[in-house]
Amino acid sequence: MTPYEILCSTLPSQSKTWLITGVAGFIGSNLLEALLKLNQQVVGLDNFATGHQRNLDQVQSLVNSKQWANFRFIKGDIRKLSDCQRACKDVDYVLHEAALGSVPRSLADPITTNSTNIDGFLNMLVAARDAQVKRFVYAASSSTYGDHPALPKVEENIGKPLSPYAVTKYVNELYADVFARFYGLNAIGLRYFNVFGKRQDPNGAYAAVIPKWIASMIRNEPVYINGDGQTSRDFCYIDNAVQANLLAATAENPDAANQVFNVAVGKRTTLNELFWYLHKHLLPYFAHLQAFEPIYVDFRAGDVRHSLADVSKSAQLLGYIPSHHIDEGLKIAINWYLA
Ligand SMILES: NC(=O)c1ccc[n+]([C@@H]2O[C@H](COP(=O)([O-])OP(=O)(O)OC[C@H]3O[C@@H](n4cnc5c(N)ncnc54)[C@H](O)[C@@H]3O)[C@@H](O)[C@H]2O)c1
Repeated sequence: MTPYEILCSTLPSQSKTWLITGVAGFIGSNLLEALLKLNQQVVGLDNFATGHQRNLDQVQSLVNSKQWANFRFIKGDIRKLSDCQRACKDVDYVLHEAALGSVPRSLADPITTNSTNIDGFLNMLVAARDAQVKRFVYAASSSTYGDHPALPKVEENIGKPLSPYAVTKYVNELYADVFARFYGLNAIGLRYFNVFGKRQDPNGAYAAVIPKWIASMIRNEPVYINGDGQTSRDFCYIDNAVQANLLAATAENPDAANQVFNVAVGKRTTLNELFWYLHKHLLPYFAHLQAFEPIYVDFRAGDVRHSLADVSKSAQLLGYIPSHHIDEGLKIAINWYLA
């Protein structure tokens, strides 16, 4: 059995209380589903800035009524300290996902990204510290590698941030480290690399590439590739990110505390490869895709050219073993969007 399988077999008999911020979003709602299925008590906080009630409704439809009764939702804003304090009360573990994602959004409106991702983050740290939670696991980002040229990305070697979003995610790491040193808060940062899967929003100007392209192909709308299509990413299926969160929250190895970890697979896929993979799998369902080609446009400001993670630190200290490679994850995700 893998460390995660062992954890999933023991958790149901040791119910804990978890706070998920950003619970109505993509990653948050998948964490909610996993924890309720493991019979955990969950408090969720969200202001629906980019999350949706339909994500919570879908989780409700996937768990039984007893498990759903273990969930308490607070509509609130992490930019308000009192909302964070209310949410952290009597909580064992915090999984802090609430933030405004997207590099282009942060370039268009750096002030709102900053207030949510930095002021809101600081409020959550203060509230978690005062509530004396056992561990504070937070969503960091691969964007923190910035302009560092080395591949694969190793946690210790970062470059300069390339966008306001990347600045906010790096500041999160700095603040978490200071709270660990001075207040004894037990924090772990998870640097997600392009997570994808069910309930990731395909709509809006700031949608992520996989749901956006699947939706465009299904609707017969143009697919734009920024640059020459050789830009690459270490696409990470959602179940891997859920695994990393649960392992990080419960990790007993003292060397794992107050660290940041890559959450990815360790395999690089170019945008061209991604396009043709999605095309191949959607073609049998949609005749309009027969002569469908991508449209190449300019490179996008603030984008990192290549991204590939070294996941050996996560494997060694957390016992993280990705359960899904990109192909397996894409098949599940495509079927979900088709349904
Ligand atoms: N999806 C990825 O590939 C990826 C990669 C790196 C980092 N991350 C980080 O992971 C976290 C979750 O991302 P996601 O993809 O699920 O995004 P998402 O937009 O689906 O979820 C974010 C959630 O946070 C909520 N939120 C935003 N501002 C809030 C506020 N002020 N108060 C309360 N709730 C608020 C939103 O309503 C939403 O439900 C974010 O911190 C993001 O920066 C995601």
